[in-house]
Amino acid sequence: MRALTCKAWGPVADLTIEEWDDPVPDDEELVIDVQAAGINFPDILIIAGKYQDRIPPPFIPGNEASGIVSAVGSKVSRFAIGDKIIVAPRGGAFAEKCKVHQNAAMPLPKELGFEQAAGYAVTYGTSYHALKQCAELKTGETLLVLGAAGGVGITAVQIGKAMGARVIAAASSDEKLDFASAAGADEVVNYSTQPLKETVKELTDGGVDVVYDPVGGELAQQALRALAWHGRYLVVGFASGDIPDFPANIALLKEARIVGVWWGTWAARNPDGQIQNMAEISALVASGKLQPRVSETYPIEDFEKAFQLISERRALGKVVLRLS
Ligand SMILES: NC(=O)c1ccc[n+]([C@@H]2O[C@H](COP(=O)([O-])OP(=O)(O)OC[C@H]3O[C@@H](n4cnc5c(N)ncnc54)[C@H](OP(=O)(O)O)[C@@H]3O)[C@@H](O)[C@H]2O)c1
Repeated sequence: MRALTCKAWGPVADLTIEEWDDPVPDDEELVIDVQAAGINFPDILIIAGKYQDRIPPPFIPGNEASGIVSAVGSKVSRFAIGDKIIVAPRGGAFAEKCKVHQNAAMPLPKELGFEQAAGYAVTYGTSYHALKQCAELKTGETLLVLGAAGGVGITAVQIGKAMGARVIAAASSDEKLDFASAAGADEVVNYSTQPLKETVKELTDGGVDVVYDPVGGELAQQALRALAWHGRYLVVGFASGDIPDFPANIALLKEARIVGVWWGTWAARNPDGQIQNMAEISALVASGKLQPRVSETYPIEDFEKAFQLISERRALGKVVLRLS
């Protein structure tokens, strides 16, 4: 099979397309013929050798894909050859074939095509787990989403609305905020032109109940100070490249919680909870409350252009690579 290959940690431009042996499933694994695969910001960190899990080269990157089951292990009970599914492997998705444990696979919702479904597992999985298990977001609460037009950000906007929250979307341009409004955001803040903390405080009665932060850096300091009493601050990621230090007195003064979110590891430790979350997400997709936002699709040969949208901060929603 052909696969995008990382031969040494470094820039995305150094990746090459190589021939690999087809994967063979173990007892509880299955293999799909990949139709499309979603790009996520962490892929850039993984390829550079700067992610928390460092994979020794050579390896095939990519953590989510959609496709058709082409082989199953002897103990696979949830899927059969020919099923259309979504997978969230820990690596290996940017290839013509991809192998995963059956617990990291889910049926393709019939409302979605392969490209929409390819950018679904990591972003919805992360935001649903963050808002449900980590923040325990309740109907009527206020949710502030930073980087609200990005891959995980736009799913947090949609899921927050579906959970009955009032959603404030914050992003760096009016184009991105229009995108977030179209996805359901109630209010918007352009943090390139407006002070985040003051604007959010003006929009709320004493601050927000939950902050969803995939950006970090200086914005994180402002957003923490925009929390309400008993607020929850979700540490999702650091797309700005800057890991913030949080002053503990702010947590004390608001009885606030700063909660880390690491969906991939949570899902691996809680397979039943993960399967349940994905079933709930599929139900929301079926009801029309969640609509995956894939803005750009490229053939695998054009991987550099696709990754540039993300590294240059230009992506709206998801960017997807086509394998078939
Ligand atoms: N914790 C978890 O389980 C988990 C799971 C998936 C992803 N993540 C993390 O979440 C973060 C976002 O991932 P994603 O796939 O959603 O990325 P993405 O689509 O590129 O979105 C990231 C957003 O961050 C903002 N940003 C600020 N400074 C940036 C910079 N220097 N370069 C790029 N973007 C910048 C951009 O919004 P503005 O231009 O509006 O500021 C952008 O839309 C990453 O740090 C990733 O590692 C965490």
